[in-house]
Amino acid sequence: MSSIKEIVFATNNAHKLSEIREIVGDRLTILSLADIGCHDDIPENEDTLEGNALAKARFIKEHYGYDCFADDTGLEVDALGGEPGVRSARYAPGTGHDSMANMRLLLKNMEGKTDRKARFRTVIALIKDGCETVVDGIVEGTIIESQRGCDGFGYDPVFLPEGSPLTFAEMSAEAKNAISHRGRATRRLLQLL
Ligand code: IMP
Repeated sequence: MSSIKEIVFATNNAHKLSEIREIVGDRLTILSLADIGCHDDIPENEDTLEGNALAKARFIKEHYGYDCFADDTGLEVDALGGEPGVRSARYAPGTGHDSMANMRLLLKNMEGKTDRKARFRTVIALIKDGCETVVDGIVEGTIIESQRGCDGFGYDPVFLPEGSPLTFAEMSAEAKNAISHRGRATRRLLQLL
């Protein structure tokens, strides 16, 4: 059980916010960036998930003074040498954060590949009481050949988690959170709070 009552989650992504709030339940109040009056475009220019998560959390601590946590997630595909990885949000060139374009490029780059193994990895950086801590969560799976399902976000329609007949986009939020990268990392985070 937490010893604090509320903490800031340094994200502008509404999907991530609602997933984390659902995982945390009533144990803790998660404040969004809007809740603290932050509308900045927080830089994510590091070349590792750890680097980006820490940079985002440090930005909020430095500019707004709040203890907080931040996440960065990447989809690592074996046949693509770990790509898109830390560049998952900006995989398709020139499109900003366009999930459909990213997924289309991924499926194109996977055409003809027999090794379809991949994993989602979430890194969460926590800044609390002057200390920085980093935890992660991983879910293994495969990239299917075409999109299935309408729920979730990002690459969910093409990711089939190991042992599941359903893609993340075909699952309920509860089922995804039970096995997902973000669910695993968040449960580790909760142990620290
Ligand atoms: P970031 O952590 O916001 O930088 O996310 C990187 C990329 O991974 C974005 O394109 C997201 O849409 C995608 N992404 C992050 N988390 C998930 C997830 O749980 N499922 C599918 N895609 C995700």
